[in-house]
Amino acid sequence: MNAEGRTRLNQTPEWIALGKHREQLGQTHLRELFAADQARGSRYTLQVGDLYLDYSKHLVTDETLAMLRELAVVTKVAELRDAMFRGEKINTTENRAVLHTALRAPRDAVIEVDGENVVPAVHAVLDKMTAFSDRVRAGEWTGHTGRPIKNVVNIGIGGSDLGPAMAYEALRAYTARDLTFRFVSNVDGADLHEAVRDLDPAETLFIIASKTFTTIETITNATSAREWLLTGLKAGQDAVAKHFVALSTNAEKVSDFGIDTANMFEFWDWVGGRYSFDSAIGLSLMVAIGPDRFRDMLAGFHLVDEHFRTAPAEANAPMLLGLLGVWYGEFFDAQSHAVLPYSHYLSKFTAYLQQLDMESNGKSVDREGNRVEWQTGPVVWGTPGTNGQHAYYQLLHQGTKFIPADFIGFARPVGDLPARLVAQHDLLMANFFAQPQALAFGKTPEEVRAEGVPEELVAHKTFEGNRPTTTILATELTPSVLGQLIALYEHKVFVQGAVWNIDSFDQWGVELGKVLAKKIEPVLTEGTGAEQLDNSTSTLVTKYRTLRGR
Ligand code: F6P
Repeated sequence: MNAEGRTRLNQTPEWIALGKHREQLGQTHLRELFAADQARGSRYTLQVGDLYLDYSKHLVTDETLAMLRELAVVTKVAELRDAMFRGEKINTTENRAVLHTALRAPRDAVIEVDGENVVPAVHAVLDKMTAFSDRVRAGEWTGHTGRPIKNVVNIGIGGSDLGPAMAYEALRAYTARDLTFRFVSNVDGADLHEAVRDLDPAETLFIIASKTFTTIETITNATSAREWLLTGLKAGQDAVAKHFVALSTNAEKVSDFGIDTANMFEFWDWVGGRYSFDSAIGLSLMVAIGPDRFRDMLAGFHLVDEHFRTAPAEANAPMLLGLLGVWYGEFFDAQSHAVLPYSHYLSKFTAYLQQLDMESNGKSVDREGNRVEWQTGPVVWGTPGTNGQHAYYQLLHQGTKFIPADFIGFARPVGDLPARLVAQHDLLMANFFAQPQALAFGKTPEEVRAEGVPEELVAHKTFEGNRPTTTILATELTPSVLGQLIALYEHKVFVQGAVWNIDSFDQWGVELGKVLAKKIEPVLTEGTGAEQLDNSTSTLVTKYRTLRGR
């Protein structure tokens, strides 16, 4: 029991029981679990909206699942979930509500923060975004010289970049192909340079996306973009209004930058950066796919929100996936979690999930500030199949690391692919089904020998198997399905944070590096103060200055 009257997670009987259960499970193989239950592959499944989830290839029994659900009860996951949906300030270290779910609530919903219903403001911004997107898409938003906008460049970083950049790729098949979209995030000048070098400033609109409007990378890139534009147009400040809009919570800073606040799309402090993609931060995507499809996507998010809020624990997909992650992190020592989409369009999906998961649950103190004595968030990684198969899957299959993985695939390709490329889809999906099968069931030495493999190669060609995976299958990657997928992961991360008793909605861990960089920058440019740095850093910056010719 800690000072706040809450039993520490690792002292709860449920946690201790799970530890014992893990010992009893020992080396039980998925081959045995499937042999014991012929219907396991259909029984351990869930349908949530358009998402079909197969969790049969997990190292769990009915008893494990029941025990994990008990853990969720004792750690009050449902209570915290309900508090989140009600708009309570569950982000305690920042004293903020956590209401990304309000961003996709229907117009008539009532969700209050400090006694005020936030839903009308959400829809007012969505309506403003809609009017703006329609104008750009119709060629009615003209630049300083009167030419219609043809290029949209989103400048933002972290949550103000990863969501729209990921979703633009994911939904590329639905985008206005006559418009060009670019996403600039890195303060490395190469990023902006490559993004604009072939663009005509007269036809280019910059969307400056920053919740705080103080993020150094974004403000630096925005300032450079403004210079590029004004130089290219040979125009003065008055050209900015037609070529710059802002997405932010900070009207004052937006105005200081020189952007008319009439061209600002607002959101609120109860939207965390990595949860902000459904807010005004999604503007570039809305321009790309159109307001109707954007709203379809929001409806997909909302569908999974409602599922998470109302489905019983045994049929609640985010609850289940979250608890499985807790199970593996603590009791199987899994350090990482792979997310492997079998869709080229989802090439940035895992990078997006990295921020969502790792910035949320990369914590080592609990809500009360005590060091945790249990594992928290995993390293999330992965790239689309089949490419990964020819790179790192060797380690997944035969390495010494234990890495649970999610496989995400679709029954039908999207877009206007020619028939020959549509036909390739079955080959892609054959791999999608084969990999989890190989990971789960492997190949025994007996099976290898039966193939006539010489004895000295048997060990090399044996696959232990017993490597757990979730398979997520949907009909096709529509805007709604993308929304469903993201919400599924958002709530999975929530469940884990709730069990671990950490604040999944702050991100203090990114601050120190920012402060130190601010101190080091003048050392690099002016050459003074190196002696105040530690010996390694001062030696490095001195070397840097020499290499830089200073
Ligand atoms: O990396 C820290 C962080 O604060 C993220 O949480 C956020 O998404 C990102 O920086 C960008 O912040 P902003 O939208 O305020 O520019």
